[in-house]
Amino acid sequence: MSRYIEAVWCRPVDRLPIWLMRQAGRYLPEYRAIRERHTFMNMIQTPEIAAEITLQPIRRFGLDAAILFSDILTVASALGSKLEFVEGKGPVIDNPIRTESDLTLLSQTPIRDSLNYVRECIELLQSGPLGNTPLIGFAGAPFTVASYMIQGGSSKDLTLVKRLMLTHPNIMADLIDRLVLATADYVSMQIEAGVDGIQLFDTWAIHLSMPEFEEWVMSPLKAVLNRIRNPRRVPITIFTRGSAVFWNRLATLPVQCLSLDWQVDIKGVAGLAPSHIALQGNLDPMVLTATPTVLSSQVTRILQSAGNRPGFIFNLGHGITPDVPIDMVTRLVEQVQAYQPVYEA
Ligand code: CP3
Repeated sequence: MSRYIEAVWCRPVDRLPIWLMRQAGRYLPEYRAIRERHTFMNMIQTPEIAAEITLQPIRRFGLDAAILFSDILTVASALGSKLEFVEGKGPVIDNPIRTESDLTLLSQTPIRDSLNYVRECIELLQSGPLGNTPLIGFAGAPFTVASYMIQGGSSKDLTLVKRLMLTHPNIMADLIDRLVLATADYVSMQIEAGVDGIQLFDTWAIHLSMPEFEEWVMSPLKAVLNRIRNPRRVPITIFTRGSAVFWNRLATLPVQCLSLDWQVDIKGVAGLAPSHIALQGNLDPMVLTATPTVLSSQVTRILQSAGNRPGFIFNLGHGITPDVPIDMVTRLVEQVQAYQPVYEA
């Protein structure tokens, strides 16, 4: 069993496991070399390329888990969003959902058919090249994917999403219902194809009030988790931004692990979280652009705060950014992998 899997089930490990959100990305020269020749969509839709990129950070750093190279917006695209990744801007959707008639244009094709390239990539990776390194599959949670489909791209404050939620909750509910079915089917397909873990991303929860969070994040997540077919009991992790506010609600979901953002007081949560829930996190990715001394002291603080709790996986509090020096990632991985937890008797 790998250390990631042991830790996610809150079992003891000889040393702490680490992987990094967005570990395959533009901070790696070997990624940029492929990116120069392909569009991002082309990269994720070609199983051989997506598999190669998944492996890049594993080869370079010996991380304790691989995450499938893809994006949460493949589901939006499969449902009919005209999605493009624009340099300097991120995802842009040409035909955002704003009215009831926009909804009727969405595709009815089962997600497992439209996203068959993801199944092929997983099968390819699990046919040998990963060795014993576990493979994490993932999906966006309904609220975050809906946010992009409505807003039409990234946004500081989700104005259009919040306005639609407040003025046309029926349109929001219809879109969320479709995404619950699509997400559950997509995750079930990844489990069938052979992933070893699943992470759900609900990044934009941070924009919601508590009642809105209950309605648009908790309920859809419960529905997704209920519908996922998971005969192998593959462990499921949930990441949100805003976890400082919401973590104790998320801890009531039938998941194995909470991935905490960098604002969370990790020591506080490690002391309070139920013992059957693993924690993952929560270094501010910005620290990777500081000095080695600053990095080392921040990593030590997190290790001392949560490293001796059965069920801790080191990660960042959000995705790694393109400006991070490789050498800082090497230092981070070495420091964490050298840490041997001491468990209370
Ligand atoms: O973590 C990994 O290495 C696996 C792959 C992965 C990507 N995106 C690759 C990617 C995962 C798990 C994601 C999740 C994702 N995508 C989220 C949830 C987590 C989070 O970061 O909040 C969200 C909100 C998205 C949507 C998305 N995709 C945005 C906002 C952007 C643009 C931002 C940016 O950094 O440019 C993307 C593009 C994207 N997804 C890139 C990568 C490597 C950059 C693509 C490029 O090469 O141009």
